Amino acid sequence: MTLSESRAFLLLLLSFVLLSSLSPLVFYSFLEEKLHTLNSYPGAPRRNISILLWHWPFGRPYRLDGDRCLEMYNISGCFLTDNTSAFSTADVVVFHHQELGRGVSSLPLHLSRPASQHWVWMSLEPPHNNANLTQLNGFFNWTMSYRRDADISIPYGKTMLGGEKKVIQAAPNRSCPVSWVVSRYKSNQARSVVYQRLRNYIHIEVYGKWNKKPLSDKELLPTISKCLFYLSFENSEAKDYISEKLWRNAFQAGAVPVVLGPSRATYEALAPPDSFIHVLDYKSIAELAEHLKHVAADRQAYEKYLQWHHTHRIKTYTDWRERLCQICVRFPRLPARQVYLDLEGWVKM
Ligand SMILES: *[C@@H]1O[C@H](CO)[C@@H](O)[C@H](O)[C@H]1NC(C)=O
Ligand SMILES: *[C@@H]1O[C@H](CO)[C@@H](O)[C@H](O)[C@H]1NC(C)=O
Ligand SMILES: *[C@@H]1O[C@H](CO)[C@@H](O)[C@H](O)[C@H]1NC(C)=O
Ligand SMILES: *[C@@H]1O[C@H](CO)[C@@H](O)[C@H](O)[C@H]1NC(C)=O
Repeated sequence: MTLSESRAFLLLLLSFVLLSSLSPLVFYSFLEEKLHTLNSYPGAPRRNISILLWHWPFGRPYRLDGDRCLEMYNISGCFLTDNTSAFSTADVVVFHHQELGRGVSSLPLHLSRPASQHWVWMSLEPPHNNANLTQLNGFFNWTMSYRRDADISIPYGKTMLGGEKKVIQAAPNRSCPVSWVVSRYKSNQARSVVYQRLRNYIHIEVYGKWNKKPLSDKELLPTISKCLFYLSFENSEAKDYISEKLWRNAFQAGAVPVVLGPSRATYEALAPPDSFIHVLDYKSIAELAEHLKHVAADRQAYEKYLQWHHTHRIKTYTDWRERLCQICVRFPRLPARQVYLDLEGWVKM
């Protein structure tokens, strides 16, 4: 071997050593990237996710100490905080719409936002309660709402398979045909128009602030359960907007809901089968009243609306912490890169 030959050999050896030490590096960073996507498979080890809630919805705080998602909902690796100084390390920052009244100036735009951080726009209100949206275009990566097409869909309630042990008794001793709880009555709302006409045909017990018969949380369900039907009338008609007026007030009380809100198709997709009476299925309010009277007088007809209790049950969501923990459940499947350039258009859709 000449000197130049041995030099060439040495060079070859050196580059081999270099390459073999380099390629695992390349390989590992590739693997790491793959592992991140692998996290989306059930059972895979998940990295911890930190969620910062920027304002408490409606200014009412809940306790966040300890590992709330694990302790309360059995969701691991999911940490909630309301300490805004955690901004720079949060994976997700959640903004509840009602506290963004000052528009853009309510957002922490003065802070440097980590490139991988996702901002969530959250609201459980129907579109007409979400003012000043235009200013918020282009800041949010994900939406969180009752809507099925939200990135993180958090409905007021949902239908689960599997019946309840306690079966609701059919019309045993119900002392009243129809009840309704309303606090903010506005005469121009569709629900008020339907109520005013319906009361000409059938007696309706009205509770709530409007009628000066407010019900405490404790009284609510027992009172509604004394009546055969409950008016689950939404304050506005909006895509997928079905509130606790159906899930809690009617279903949990065991009253048959008379619904006014989105289309029958939406209720069919979300509520248990044959569980409701839809106002718009009737040509007139007189016909609706006729149907209610017929069902009230016919035990078998009434029981048909309660059959679902044998095969389905209801889950309601009421605690903001449970909703926030849901972000971690969806996290691996959420779109990595996304911006709502037209948030207003999405909300008003
Ligand atoms: C996740 O958080 C838990 C509890 O703080 C900690 O024990 C664990 O090491 C963390 N895991 C990762 C991957 O950071
Ligand atoms: C909308 O924004 C304006 C100014 O930014 C503010 O004065 C007004 O109160 C806001 N409206 C609501 C309903 O938040
Ligand atoms: C049902 O009504 C009857 C007669 O009014 C009464 O005696 C009975 O206690 C009632 N049962 C229930 C469960 O309310
Ligand atoms: C989130 O949205 C912002 C727009 O405000 C954008 O600059 C950023 O790249 C988005 N982040 C991700 C991870 O998609």
